[in-house]
Amino acid sequence: MNSKFPLFPEAASSFAHHVDTLYFFLIALSVFFSVLIFGLVLFFAFRYKRKPNAEDPKPMLGDLRLELTWSIIPLLITMVIFVWGGLLYYHQLTPPANAQEIFGIGKQWMWKFYHPEGRNEINELHVPVGRPTKVILTSEDVLHDLFIPAFRTKMDVLPGRYTQIWFTPTKTGTYHLFCAEYCGTKHADMKGTVTVMSPLEYQGWLNGELGQDRMDKTGKELFKQFACQTCHQDQSLSRGPSLTGVYDSMVLLNNGKTVKADADYLRESILKPKAKIVQGYDAIMPTYKGQISEEQLIQIIEYIKSLKEPQKEVN
Ligand code: CUA
Repeated sequence: MNSKFPLFPEAASSFAHHVDTLYFFLIALSVFFSVLIFGLVLFFAFRYKRKPNAEDPKPMLGDLRLELTWSIIPLLITMVIFVWGGLLYYHQLTPPANAQEIFGIGKQWMWKFYHPEGRNEINELHVPVGRPTKVILTSEDVLHDLFIPAFRTKMDVLPGRYTQIWFTPTKTGTYHLFCAEYCGTKHADMKGTVTVMSPLEYQGWLNGELGQDRMDKTGKELFKQFACQTCHQDQSLSRGPSLTGVYDSMVLLNNGKTVKADADYLRESILKPKAKIVQGYDAIMPTYKGQISEEQLIQIIEYIKSLKEPQKEVN
């Protein structure tokens, strides 16, 4: 609709048009009421202007119908905005279960992206067209914000935790990627490109860089290097809970609560092992804070994610 109008970025994701429609609805609504109010102000100014020798008009003490009208109509309009905006916001925050995952790390002043297949890139992001894609984000230093205008989505990128952004690109091409949170002197340089490719081209691109190990493979080596497997085994009686199938499952804690073992939970458990203790286990795990980089964390998480089948049957 607006691709020829350079004020607006191209619409290249599944929800871009929904965002635009809501945006234009809000503009139309604002224009309608601005014109109506200014028009009425002018109209009444002339219609009821004081005539020579006229008596003062009688004061008006209230009109229930009028008051109900100007209360109920704005209420309905704002409820439409609230429900429409809320549904769209919720949709943007909830990646579909089949979304492919990519990791992104922001730092002063660059974006680094990690594909599970092993390919990494800086200030560039390659994604396939038509596939829901989720980017799990964190920062190595300060607050950043990943903004892809053509996809009509952005998300804060915070040190110390993961956030996520998702989209389904609908058009191949190259689009801008920005940092949308002031993060220091070179904030304005913290930008890059998103390249949307056909699935076949994307596959070719993933295989294009030789000698890179899959993230879960690098993660497995780190898992051994940090000696995680000495406690996290599949046997019962192991000192730490088995990690097989744990990713995205519900975990029962010793305080009776359950939490979803998503990337954020795994990250916290590695850096602050005492924050959440799995039921039936002791708080004996040492922290790896300061010993492990953001990059190594996502590699280990990728490895844990890959543990789907038990290595050894228990019982
Ligand atoms: Cu990073 Cu602004």
